[in-house]
Amino acid sequence: MSRKMTRDKLNSNAIITKTHSGCIKMFLIVLPFIIIGSNAMEPFVVGGNRAAIEYFAHSVFLSIRDYQGSYICGSSILNQKVLLSAAHCFETCISPGNIFAFVGNAHKSRGRKYQVSNFKIHENYDSNEVKNDIGLAILRVSLTLGASAKRVSIIPHPPAIKLGKVAGWGLIDETGGVRSSWLHSSTQRLWTLNKCREILPGIPNGCLCAGDTSEQSYASEGDSGSALVINGYIQVGLVSFKRPDTSRGLVVYTNVSHFYHWIRMNTRNLYCRERFG
Ligand SMILES: *[C@@H]1O[C@H](CO)[C@@H](O)[C@H](O)[C@H]1NC(C)=O
Repeated sequence: MSRKMTRDKLNSNAIITKTHSGCIKMFLIVLPFIIIGSNAMEPFVVGGNRAAIEYFAHSVFLSIRDYQGSYICGSSILNQKVLLSAAHCFETCISPGNIFAFVGNAHKSRGRKYQVSNFKIHENYDSNEVKNDIGLAILRVSLTLGASAKRVSIIPHPPAIKLGKVAGWGLIDETGGVRSSWLHSSTQRLWTLNKCREILPGIPNGCLCAGDTSEQSYASEGDSGSALVINGYIQVGLVSFKRPDTSRGLVVYTNVSHFYHWIRMNTRNLYCRERFG
């Protein structure tokens, strides 16, 4: 990557919330790309709305503790045992037993609570350039599907639809650092990768961009791993990072269709390992 990219990276942030973490302080210096600077942010779903869980029933809140502190991420339901999220949600000092998933409620701590028993980060996840930012978590106990807990569908070639929706538990006011306990959602415009690269040069393959340069409403700290869906249930992306110095409103997502085969294979592997040892 070019120098410029490196400089850009220093002012860039992945969209994750971590609190009182020495691990993270180190990351702020070493990997500012990944971690949001407290000064740099503004609302997630600024201009977003409180979301009813029934409309985003694939959304699962993750509370993650590493030995330094705790942070939050979003994820989506692939099946009764496996959740899809961002690799950078799982990359620091975590034991799977310190990841808890809350399912089936728009309030982050009122859902049914499940413990994660294992997770998988993409083998080629690159935290510097934020490439292959995708991971899976398997639950100790199967979750119960229903009106407020539904699977997403992931397809290799989704239709070229212009608008998608993202929902997450991240900041609702980025500059003010305002959090909410409630799920918020927002409609996002999907960009072609080429168009996105005009604004954010060097975005790797396997990403897609969504949002707006008008910065009305967008994903923020704590929304990492949250699903971007079309037609209500087809997941096309998951929240990865942005470069707030360039645009707060244009968010880079992992293109989950690009990782369709990886997701299939690794979901099966995790599941089999869990079942048969
Ligand atoms: C996402 O990946 C799929 C499968 O590789 C591809 O067909 C699609 O065009 C990609 N989306 C974007 C916005 O690049």
